[in-house]
Amino acid sequence: MIEELGYLTEADISVLAEDSIAFDTPFLGRFGLSVLLELRSDDCEKHILYDTNSESAPIFRNLKIMSKSLDKVSTIFLSHCHYDHTDGLAGILEALGRPISVVAHPEIFRPCFEINPDGIRQIGIVDPNITDLEQKGTIFTLSREPLNLMTGVMTSGEIERVTSFEVLEDLYTIVDGEVVQDHERDDSAVILSFEEGLVIITGCCHAGIVNTMIHARNITGVDKIHAIVGGLHFIDASEEKIEKSIEALKEVDWIFAGHCTGFDGMRRIANAYGDRFSRIHTGSMIHFPIQDPTTPVTTIPTNVRDLHRLYE
Ligand SMILES: [Fe+2]
Ligand SMILES: [Fe+2]
Repeated sequence: MIEELGYLTEADISVLAEDSIAFDTPFLGRFGLSVLLELRSDDCEKHILYDTNSESAPIFRNLKIMSKSLDKVSTIFLSHCHYDHTDGLAGILEALGRPISVVAHPEIFRPCFEINPDGIRQIGIVDPNITDLEQKGTIFTLSREPLNLMTGVMTSGEIERVTSFEVLEDLYTIVDGEVVQDHERDDSAVILSFEEGLVIITGCCHAGIVNTMIHARNITGVDKIHAIVGGLHFIDASEEKIEKSIEALKEVDWIFAGHCTGFDGMRRIANAYGDRFSRIHTGSMIHFPIQDPTTPVTTIPTNVRDLHRLYE
């Protein structure tokens, strides 16, 4: 409950790598998501890397352009197993060259695949495996339960599925030698607590944003959701899911979405909420508490962009 969770005083959220880049920016986009969370409370400061995109190289190039680093990152959080959120992990561990805590759901290493007309496509973590990663210095904390990461910050743990319209996708896993529907139970979020309300960071949001919001309210005891940041997986979603999700989002002050939200999903949210919605790109930065409501999402200044026009 919130009495124990406490509040953050400030957070800098930087999108290190996402599918897209904004107009006239020098960043390297790459399918997936990776977000740096620089978090401060009255008694603590902590840097968390939320997801690792599908490759580490764009993350390091973009960090340099943003004059940021992973030096103070003490925890890597993996929102779920899909390669566009996890394939960058090995490269990051190698570059860090130090032990680091990785928080995820216990099923994150399960097989996860699509069955397409032209064959099976693995989309989970295929290489390296948990042993390889532990040998590189990873200290795994695998938990189905919510975990407090610092004052004002907790993981969602496994998100309860209660809505009828946020349905499972055509993904498969193997249980006891049998190919079965994959339930994507590992899909999880990080929840930041501010006096203004909760800020929920999502990866792909396979659990569904409405389920995620209900779950966040249940585990924190806080009703107010101040902002959502991340992917909402409206791509290929049913009309019912999009409609009901957009209806639920009306209670949220700010929606900062990208990645698997998809063009049509973003268009629908923008139509419904106007300036309360912003598309996030590689290089987007959001500061909480929001200082200037007319530009809640910023990027590096033009003069810094120009410095990187010839970046190699
Ligand atoms: Fe995903
Ligand atoms: Fe994704």
